[in-house]
Amino acid sequence: MGWEEIYKRRLATAAEAVRRIKSGDRIVVGHACGSPEVLLKAMVENKDAYENVEIVHMVAMGPSEYCLPENSPHFIHNSLFAGATSRKAIHDGRAMFTPSHFSQIPRLFTKKILPVDVTLCMLSPPDEHGFCSFGVSVDYTKPAAESSALVIAEVTPHMPRTLGDAFIHVSRIDCIVETASKPIILQPPKISDIDEKIGGYCAELIRDGDCLQLGIGAVPDSILGFLKDKKELGIHTEMFSDGVVDLVNEGVITCTRKNFHTSKMVATFFMGTEKLYRFVHNNPMVEMFPVDYTNNPAMIARNNNMVSVNSALQIDLTGQACSESIGYRQFSGTGGQADFIRGAAWSQGGRSILAFHSTASRGTLSRIVPHLDEGAVVTTTRTDIHFAVTEYGIADLRGKSVPQRAEALIAIAHPGFREELRKEFSRIYKR
Ligand code: COA
Repeated sequence: MGWEEIYKRRLATAAEAVRRIKSGDRIVVGHACGSPEVLLKAMVENKDAYENVEIVHMVAMGPSEYCLPENSPHFIHNSLFAGATSRKAIHDGRAMFTPSHFSQIPRLFTKKILPVDVTLCMLSPPDEHGFCSFGVSVDYTKPAAESSALVIAEVTPHMPRTLGDAFIHVSRIDCIVETASKPIILQPPKISDIDEKIGGYCAELIRDGDCLQLGIGAVPDSILGFLKDKKELGIHTEMFSDGVVDLVNEGVITCTRKNFHTSKMVATFFMGTEKLYRFVHNNPMVEMFPVDYTNNPAMIARNNNMVSVNSALQIDLTGQACSESIGYRQFSGTGGQADFIRGAAWSQGGRSILAFHSTASRGTLSRIVPHLDEGAVVTTTRTDIHFAVTEYGIADLRGKSVPQRAEALIAIAHPGFREELRKEFSRIYKR
């Protein structure tokens, strides 16, 4: 039977498709902007048919109704990265959090550590050979689908057809639900004066020919504004957003000096607006891979001059950084932070940057602290950290002793907290 016939036979409505979910199933949901919202809505509407369905998801951008208290007998959310819709559910004990490096998530599924019963995903329409693209979310979504007992996919013409190792054949999809859904849009963040200052310092650490990983948010976006005069930059990252498109069009990002995937931008998911999604559609300069490839520190390190830029919530005077919790409260997740910091450390000429505002809570708290808060999670160990950057400058921590680190970090703390930090350092470390 040809793939066209298979496709037709597997067409279903969303309501029909979600009836194949059974109580006790573990469901993996397509990541971030590739979330299949029509399927999730149909699943929640059919909730009376289920008990204890486990929903495994990472960055959830939609309403995540399965997290609501009234849905808790039917669904239990297992979060791989807390977000706006799951933080409260995790805190209130209605959802679980599973720590993992982003690079390691596919093997949780493929090695059956967390066996997957159902994958719900969003795909592009099939090409002439019957292959659909995972579009904006290849990451763990493709490995989950490949190791899942049942694959239910929303197929929409609005999902960009991204290239690379981004495809699944129609014959491997059990239920096909045609929709007119668009991938979720993430508007560019507002960039403050502080973000601009931090972006300027980070750009000082970036040289012509570097290969970049830029996280998400105002700081990475503000850095892009300072890179217009650089030459032959490369991209090997987990994700990028709209700002990168302008630098490609201006000829700043060429990827010509990359050691492998030369002249190609490598990523595993995208979050942005239609501008980004149009750019990545059928674009041979963009290659998508599952996250166990893009985020594997050994792969990252194959690029010379790899520079990773990520952020943190709190950092102690020895250099260990918490980027994912506020005390015991899970705020986000490890994501690919440690993957890229370790990859950059092994790259010839590599550098990693943790860039963050010097204060939080409208200037009332210093993010540079004598010791992490009780319950705060160490995302980046002090043995892994390299550069820390705030709006007050750059601290190069690699190879520095604990007192030297404290001095460098106090110098980039907000001036209003420096005296107190010095006193606390003397008290704790007897110096
Ligand atoms: N104590 C109390 N509150 C704090 C705090 C602290 N130490 N640090 C931050 N906050 C508050 C902030 O004030 C802010 O609240 P507000 O919006 O009411 O002002 C809120 O927490 C979020 O902080 P902010 O630094 O603005 O968050 P962000 O959106 O820039 O995200 C991280 C920063 C670190 C959470 C995010 O980069 C992350 O999750 N990193 C880990 C994963 C990662 O690096 N992945 C790889 C790249 S995709």
